[in-house]
Amino acid sequence: MQGKSIAAPLSFLFWTAVAQLIALALLVLIYDFYPHRVLALAICSVTAYLVSKLLRLPLPWQILNLILPIGIFFAITMNIPAGLVGAILLGLFLIYIPTFWTRVPFYPTSSAMYNIVADQLPDDQPFHFIDLGCGFGSLLIFLAGRKPLGVFEGVEISPLPYLASKIRFCMKNRARLSVKLRSFWGISLDRFDFVYAFLAPPPMETLWEKVQAEVKPGSLFLVNSFPVNAKAERILEVEDRRKSRLYVYKVVNR
Ligand SMILES: C[S@@+](CC[C@H](N)C(=O)[O-])C[C@H]1O[C@@H](n2cnc3c(N)ncnc32)[C@H](O)[C@@H]1O
Repeated sequence: MQGKSIAAPLSFLFWTAVAQLIALALLVLIYDFYPHRVLALAICSVTAYLVSKLLRLPLPWQILNLILPIGIFFAITMNIPAGLVGAILLGLFLIYIPTFWTRVPFYPTSSAMYNIVADQLPDDQPFHFIDLGCGFGSLLIFLAGRKPLGVFEGVEISPLPYLASKIRFCMKNRARLSVKLRSFWGISLDRFDFVYAFLAPPPMETLWEKVQAEVKPGSLFLVNSFPVNAKAERILEVEDRRKSRLYVYKVVNR
């Protein structure tokens, strides 16, 4: 979903509350009948997940429904200080809140993939590289270290990863590393020789259209794990836990 509408997240939030209430009602019933905490919690958690699935909420919301009862249970029973719970929730909120409308959560590129991406970039000529959704900026910092002629830009929609990238880039290499806090849908890609995306399936086809419309012919679109509907120049297998693949597409025309 590329739209910035708040209506969808609000409706997901409403249906999440409904799913949690149904699960809570079931928990109370079961606990009355058979007072076993772990069993009741497991049933509550699975019920909330199944209801959210039945309501066709997007996957991140289904996962939220699954883990919410467990999180609340631990926070209450383990007497975790409210400040700590608040800080963890705020951190997660600042990392994951855009997921509810972008449908692309944060998870980092594996370090095994870093070298494969670096191998696609030249050593003997200047170039411009962008990471769409750069997270905490680690890939860009690595590439800037390996490729002295490259200029590296990130764009990130989540506030906390953006702030971390900004601070890290200022400390590392202010001249060749930069990051913007915004959606990549609003960024023109015409300056870039390399566009890197490690996202999720939902935005990929529309993104490919954007790349083809804006990027200079001859530039490369480097896609980690979620291919688009086009013939890749090459596909590189990566020896990491996820068995990631790098799909390299050459942009032919615009
Ligand atoms: C799977 S993570 C990849 C992070 C980083 N590129 C890496 O490879 O380690 C995807 C990132 O894209 C960001 N993102 C998702 N949709 C976005 C959008 N429309 N504009 C900017 N960033 C976005 C997410 O917040 C998340 O940090």
